[in-house]
Amino acid sequence: MPVSRMTVLVIGATGSIGHLVVEEAIRQGFTVRALVRNPGKARELPTEARVVIGDVTRPKTLSDAVDGVDAVVFTLGSDGAGKVAAESVDYGGVRNVLCALGKRTARIALMTAIGVTNRTGAYNQATEAHDWKRRSERLVRVSGLPYTIVRPGWFDYNRPDQHRLMLLQGDTRQVGDPSDGVVARRQIAQVLVRSLISDRATRKTFELVATTGPAQDDFDALFAPLDPDPPGTLDGVQDSPNMPLNDEPQRVRDDLNAIRAHKFSPAA
Ligand SMILES: NC(=O)c1ccc[n+]([C@@H]2O[C@H](COP(=O)([O-])OP(=O)(O)OC[C@H]3O[C@@H](n4cnc5c(N)ncnc54)[C@H](OP(=O)(O)O)[C@@H]3O)[C@@H](O)[C@H]2O)c1
Repeated sequence: MPVSRMTVLVIGATGSIGHLVVEEAIRQGFTVRALVRNPGKARELPTEARVVIGDVTRPKTLSDAVDGVDAVVFTLGSDGAGKVAAESVDYGGVRNVLCALGKRTARIALMTAIGVTNRTGAYNQATEAHDWKRRSERLVRVSGLPYTIVRPGWFDYNRPDQHRLMLLQGDTRQVGDPSDGVVARRQIAQVLVRSLISDRATRKTFELVATTGPAQDDFDALFAPLDPDPPGTLDGVQDSPNMPLNDEPQRVRDDLNAIRAHKFSPAA
């Protein structure tokens, strides 16, 4: 489908990455819909974006937002709000939007984080944010929808000469500080939007960082060499198998089964 006929829904549209995704998608010619929970913040978005008021933790507010969309970009986050919010927003938000989509087919771009498979570091021990973001990745993988999962490095810690994108797999950079990798917010938004229209990005999970050099403009060439996730797999193709399904909470296993079967029906 030509971009000019595609409607993309941005979840997290008022955030530091999300508003750049809105701008980039408009620049690329998409029709853009922005999910916004606080109407006051909608004024900061470009007027070309259609704002839909909704909250990912309230499933009933999502049906209008997903109606007729061809793609969804997730850049939401509960950053710093604690374990309950990590589960209800970072994970539950993705589950509720996938559920609202029902049997519709939509291209998905999900942003999580570099180091998301690191379970033992201080950050995840305190917040469980990695674990819940990783579980949101798993929901996307089992949904059967065409997807790309982008795990960016540290936002805007790059030097002015660091714009050469590197797409990595295996999530092996796990120090937990900018030495793991850095990348400009605007480039993250660009990669998320470009992934929606590249067959080479389908079913791929990668870390996104930038190194010294100019930005590339051929996104197919960036996505093409990456290994796809095997069909039906829970984790990224080269990820460490350190989150066994049998040890997962029953409610998470239930969500996986429901999303896999397109039968999820949350209590509103
Ligand atoms: N900082 C880094 O270097 C780095 C690196 C890798 C990954 N990350 C991850 O990237 C994520 C997003 O980053 P960011 O800077 O864009 O975050 P942000 O500016 O805090 O944006 C988060 C977005 O999620 C929305 N949101 C939160 N709860 C919601 C709900 N219940 N319903 C609907 N929308 C909701 C927020 O809406 P409101 O505007 O209404 O609050 C906002 O639009 C974070 O979770 C972070 O962990 C960060």
